[in-house]
Amino acid sequence: MKSTVTANANIALIKYWGKKDFDLNIPQNNSLSVTLDGLTTKTTVEFSSLYKHDELILNNILQSIEESKKLISFLNLIREKANINLFAKVISENNFPTAAGLASSSSGFAALALAGCDAAGLNLSKKELSILARKGSGSAARSIFGGFVEWAAGKIGYDESSYAMQLYDENYWPEIRVIVLVLEEGKKEVSSRSGMQSSVFTSPMYKSWLDTVNLDLISLKRALLEKDFTRIGSIAESNCLKMHSTMLTSNPPLIYWNANTLELVKYILELRKNGLEIYFTIDAGPQIKILCLEKDVLNLKKKLNSFDFINKIIDCSSGSGAFILNE
Ligand code: PMV
Repeated sequence: MKSTVTANANIALIKYWGKKDFDLNIPQNNSLSVTLDGLTTKTTVEFSSLYKHDELILNNILQSIEESKKLISFLNLIREKANINLFAKVISENNFPTAAGLASSSSGFAALALAGCDAAGLNLSKKELSILARKGSGSAARSIFGGFVEWAAGKIGYDESSYAMQLYDENYWPEIRVIVLVLEEGKKEVSSRSGMQSSVFTSPMYKSWLDTVNLDLISLKRALLEKDFTRIGSIAESNCLKMHSTMLTSNPPLIYWNANTLELVKYILELRKNGLEIYFTIDAGPQIKILCLEKDVLNLKKKLNSFDFINKIIDCSSGSGAFILNE
């Protein structure tokens, strides 16, 4: 009863920020993402009667019971579905910083959903896996799939109504790139889980977010169909800034950027004014993700190399969904 799975993180072009059903992790709005081949989690789950409790080893470090709480309740969902009562050992590794606004929970819970189900002998459809992964972390619902993915928000109280689906697979647009700039490797102070609910309840901008996010989604889907990079970049960038305006105006304020994030945002805008077509998106952390086309990657990276404070540059293309590695 053991399975190893790999899954990629995804970056939202239309963001998910806020839930309407906190217990089921049902979001306020639909979101749209691209799964990235350069941000990968590999997870092995083994259920066995030899284990006397659940154990999580994350990036080679044994996690405390407190740190494993989310994992244990997620494993309980799988045990309930499979009707088993065995404990599990979970070994998980990310090839990128964990919990720093790089969507590690998206690849983490997508990998855990598939590896856990496979190890428990459950054969779920991708839609069912997406519903399950959502309960670990919302964005994980999208990482079950590769390429461009939409997560349909669904209805309050209806677990089965909220799941992701693939719009285009990872081969749809090979020229599109996401350059991830890692600025800070530490864990963020406020998790997206608690941050987003604070925005829902305290930000005066939250209503405007909800009023415009669906229009952004429709426009972005149209631009994706037409492979119109200019429109995709500008819609994604503006959608990201709208999300951050709900963060900034939450009480207490949520400021996920640092001074270097701001310096790079200004630099990106300057480069664009001078003809290099690049756009940024930022999640609940200081890291920057630059959207660009393959033809501009070398030139862009050369320019970025002059910033000492960029710890790592990860060059990503659109990547695959979660898949099983054993056999
Ligand atoms: O899935 P969570 O709970 O880590 O929330 C993700 C929130 C954002 O990354 C900021 C936006 C998104 O849609 O991925």
